[in-house]
Amino acid sequence: MISKDRMLITGGNALEGSVQVSGGKNTAVAVIPATLLCDEPCTIENLPDIEDVHALVDILTELGAKVDYEPGRMTVDPRTVDSHEISYRNAQRLRASYYLLGALLGRCGNAKVPTPGGCEIGSRPVDQHLKGFQALGAEAGEIGGILTAKCDALTGGDVFFDMVTVGGTVNVILAAVKARGTTVIYNAAKEPHIVDVANFLNSMGARIKGAGTDTIRIRGVQNLHTTTYAVIPDQIETGTLMIAAAATGGDVTINGCIPTHMDALSAKLLEMGVKVMDYDDAIRVRSIEQRRAINIKTQVYPGFPTDLQQPMSALLTTVKGTSIVQETIFEQRLRHLDEIRRMGAHVRVMDRTAIIEGVPELYGAPVTATDLRAGAALIIAGLMARGVTEIYEPGYIDRGYEHIEDKLRSLGAVIHREPVE
Ligand code: EPZ
Repeated sequence: MISKDRMLITGGNALEGSVQVSGGKNTAVAVIPATLLCDEPCTIENLPDIEDVHALVDILTELGAKVDYEPGRMTVDPRTVDSHEISYRNAQRLRASYYLLGALLGRCGNAKVPTPGGCEIGSRPVDQHLKGFQALGAEAGEIGGILTAKCDALTGGDVFFDMVTVGGTVNVILAAVKARGTTVIYNAAKEPHIVDVANFLNSMGARIKGAGTDTIRIRGVQNLHTTTYAVIPDQIETGTLMIAAAATGGDVTINGCIPTHMDALSAKLLEMGVKVMDYDDAIRVRSIEQRRAINIKTQVYPGFPTDLQQPMSALLTTVKGTSIVQETIFEQRLRHLDEIRRMGAHVRVMDRTAIIEGVPELYGAPVTATDLRAGAALIIAGLMARGVTEIYEPGYIDRGYEHIEDKLRSLGAVIHREPVE
């Protein structure tokens, strides 16, 4: 990614005040393709104004759908869709372009989607997605970097995932919702955005039960009717803001979130000595006492989210003592620590484990974001560091965080962007 600008942060300010969290990126990028399964126009609200959403507007338009988009909401009329193929350029803009496989297969029995883009955090194969489509009777595979799925009459079947996969679970739901008969997904992902996608589809007349558990049952239906649906708040943005409050010794209330989605992170912050208070739709984080070193091991939901491992490990670089971070989901999700080492962090990385010796403070430096959550980690480090941190390739951050500078500036951060000469 070659961003034309860089983000500059002057660290040292404790973040204070309240901020509103946006709609969820990982739910929005699943719900938007799901609109293709509707037999009428339907509307989605509370959408985050982020690059991944913009990319999906272009993809649905490329397919022939009529898309009426403004920041925050989108109305899709899929009745004019006249293609089942996505361009390489658009597919490469985000990981979630692969949801068009399930959506197009479910809609018209045919889909051709170039292998997706997205964060380079590991090999990220899609074998389980293809296995799921095959269980429904589809011919599915990859030829020359193009993922294909085809079936004249999808029939419900049993899908047992070899490992828990968020993308695989969503994709099979999309393909199964209008298949003939019942599909059961075993070893399903349980993330909040899986529940949100199921609730969206059920609001159009789908018959999905068990979303949020490891067994999901989908009884195929023939038609899906219109709906207006607001996606849930972003679990990972909420967590990133909570970590920013803890990292800067601040006192921040995050409004519009779902506290129970944050339990794994809240437990770790409490273990560290940070105060976390849950309200109905808000969380307050106060970091006033000496923080204690902790250990993190990423797990599938409801365990500690891999997407918060990078911001959290940035925070741990200035927590006194030795913290150990184990990344169990992806093979290469610790590269951000190479950049934070340039800011004075003492970190050793061995395979998927980081051993972090807390230092009294970091100092500002030029650093480069290598993926979306690595960018978030560099922001956390910059907010803590003495002096100015320059973050290059902030375009990665724009893929998943809506107006993040405005939100942080409203809490007292000194952060802005300027063009790279
Ligand atoms: C989704 O990625 C999220 N992306 C990721 O968030 C998130 O980190 C991940 O789930 C885990 O929660 C979106 O929702 C768009 P997986 P996904 O399939 O679906 C392996 C962010 O920062 N696997 O649950 O790609 C895979 O390699 C992004 O917002 C297979 O081997 O993740 C990984 O090791 C980054 N074969 C593990 O399973 C498959 O067919 C979990 O992957 C599928 C997955």
